[in-house]
Amino acid sequence: MDNNKLESGDKILINDKSDTSLIPDMTTLVINSRLCPDNENDHLNDSKIGNGLHQVNGVCDLSRKLSDNKELVSQNLECMTNHLNNLEASCTAPRNIHINYVSYTSELQMPDIMKLIQKDLSEPYSIYTYRYFIHNWPKLCFLAMHDNKCVGAIVCKLDLHRKIIKRGYIAMLAVDFNYRKLGIGSNLVRRAITAMIDDDADEVVLETEITNRPALTLYENLGFVRDKRLFRYYLNGVDALRLKLWLR
Ligand SMILES: CC(C)(COP(=O)(O)OP(=O)(O)OC[C@H]1O[C@@H](n2cnc3c(N)ncnc32)[C@H](O)[C@@H]1OP(=O)(O)O)[C@@H](O)C(=O)NCCC(=O)NCCS
Repeated sequence: MDNNKLESGDKILINDKSDTSLIPDMTTLVINSRLCPDNENDHLNDSKIGNGLHQVNGVCDLSRKLSDNKELVSQNLECMTNHLNNLEASCTAPRNIHINYVSYTSELQMPDIMKLIQKDLSEPYSIYTYRYFIHNWPKLCFLAMHDNKCVGAIVCKLDLHRKIIKRGYIAMLAVDFNYRKLGIGSNLVRRAITAMIDDDADEVVLETEITNRPALTLYENLGFVRDKRLFRYYLNGVDALRLKLWLR
């Protein structure tokens, strides 16, 4: 496959031996969004049921979160397993497009990661920002490779929040424009979350622009909920949503 945009209907073959072993791990997650696929409409409206949870002003209604969670968790495991199986199946391919998922191993991968991520950023990061995350948490950085080309990357960290909560943080995620909507972004996030679970994470958070529909869809499909709205968070004046996935 060359670097031309993938045609609709093209699928990808995931060449990753760890894929099947990930599924049982992921079934331990509390991923509510798959239970109530009501979230495809207006992401900004208040009082919508998004992700299976009640929302106020675009974020999760915490007062109702626990009772919602209880109700949803009981139905969760089977649906979650089905969803992940479907996601894997949807990435298995008629055409010979092999996506390899690899962990970060060398500084030589840094230019590829930066090139990919910088294309989509509204605020550029310095090399030191990349190094801060990647050198400190190399096991939480994954690349998606197609024919030796880096077509996706995720950069994360995991540390203590308020001295008690082991909080994973997804700092950067990008997929090459020509390879989007093929499940690569979701697979990268799932790998990062699995690595965080292996390291006893309690929760995972991230921020994204409130207007970033692809990112919101991706994360909400994986069970993240809208936890906070951060007004004018970005230099361009756009609000952010903090999304959170509870792992315990
Ligand atoms: C966000 C991004 C990483 C998604 O990567 P991707 O590989 O296309 O994502 P996936 O193929 O795994 O898609 C995940 C879900 O999002 C949906 N989605 C992806 N792009 C979409 C779009 N443009 N509009 C609506 N939904 C979209 C997919 O349909 C899929 O949902 P489904 O499983 O219900 O079909 C990619 O669009 C990107 O790199 N964007 C620029 C950088 C960015 O915004 N990063 C996130 C910062 S937090």
